[in-house]
Amino acid sequence: MSASHRIGEFVEAVCAAFADGSLIKLKLGGYHGGEADLKSVEARKVSIKAGERLSFVFRYKTRDITKNLTIDEAASLLSSGLADAWRSARLETTAFDLQFERQGDKLRIKRIEVEGRQAVEATHDRAKNRALTDTAKPWLHALGITGKDGKVRSDAQDKFRQINKMVEIFASLIQAIKAEKPRVLDMGAGKGYLDFALAEHLGGKVELVGVELRRALVEDGNRLASQSGFGDLRFVPGSILDYDASGADAVIALHACDTATDDAIFQGIKAGAELIAVAPCCHKQIRRQIEAGKPADELDFLLRHGTFLEKQAEMVTDGLRALLLEASGYRTKVFEFVSDAHTPKNNLIVAQKGGAGSRQAALDKIAAVKTLFGIDKHYLEGLLGL
Ligand SMILES: C[S@@+](CC[C@H](N)C(=O)[O-])C[C@H]1O[C@@H](n2cnc3c(N)ncnc32)[C@H](O)[C@@H]1O
Repeated sequence: MSASHRIGEFVEAVCAAFADGSLIKLKLGGYHGGEADLKSVEARKVSIKAGERLSFVFRYKTRDITKNLTIDEAASLLSSGLADAWRSARLETTAFDLQFERQGDKLRIKRIEVEGRQAVEATHDRAKNRALTDTAKPWLHALGITGKDGKVRSDAQDKFRQINKMVEIFASLIQAIKAEKPRVLDMGAGKGYLDFALAEHLGGKVELVGVELRRALVEDGNRLASQSGFGDLRFVPGSILDYDASGADAVIALHACDTATDDAIFQGIKAGAELIAVAPCCHKQIRRQIEAGKPADELDFLLRHGTFLEKQAEMVTDGLRALLLEASGYRTKVFEFVSDAHTPKNNLIVAQKGGAGSRQAALDKIAAVKTLFGIDKHYLEGLLGL
């Protein structure tokens, strides 16, 4: 059978599984095409407003990009990709797996029958899949998310969506930690929305400590945790930097103000936490440095406009944070955890210990970025003694 017939056979199987609802997952691997840092692709069937699509997640070294394709677009991507850029592909359906391999001119397809697999629902409707399914919880009411009737208040819909998205993301990151009962520190915990949601969702599988400057919030949080029967959740008063973080498996910080995010990252690195995840808030420190420094002339066309300066400062601050984490032995990803329609501060930096590239290469990049933007020192560099 010719190469194009083999590829056609695989693509047809994908189209058929998409059409009859038996498609569970499609994976592409062995990439050797022209896109730098592209590692793999995974696709699932989704149902969005525009109709049913194959949702492709393109996994790059430091980021993921999602594209929802019609089945015709997907078929054409597969037909050309399998002939050229991808060496392997695997289709998983409810009835069989189809493995495609290409080695030089030789193409092989292997079919493995499977039993007992359930079809997956093609949906983007998160309301059905939300982590917090039961909204009639007293803690949700006490935190102002739900009304007396146990329904999410109209003015708390965005917050509720954010919490759910965060729980989905953090629950899987925390469950990937090797420790039997991971110790998670939430720095700048505020009212502890995420901590209560994680305590609810993960039950007794995690120990949660919220560190918060404002004593009144800490007292309220502890009272509510005890009323809710969350024995593994507690809040402690004090500053992020003063807290003894040793033994932490994960350090997280959501919208901790300006450099408090750096304090949290530093505490995570110092403790050797397996996971550090921060959603930064304001980015004043680097903005002030860019304004006071001598950025490259070529950047003047951007930096002379306040709005672009603001956006650049945000990206440079967080880009440097990711590099500093890499220099400290963490592999990092930055992505939007929720649409910017719900919060403009929607970036999440996720750093997992191990597998980082060369420390020197990261330090060299940091030096180059600082020179380009006229930055004297990132606050986190100072904490790390760099
Ligand atoms: C914008 S709120 C976010 C609260 C919570 N993480 C959330 O996402 O709902 C930031 C919180 O961080 C606390 N905070 C800021 N700097 C801090 C520090 N250095 N140490 C401890 N808490 C801090 C503030 O008191 C505030 O409650």
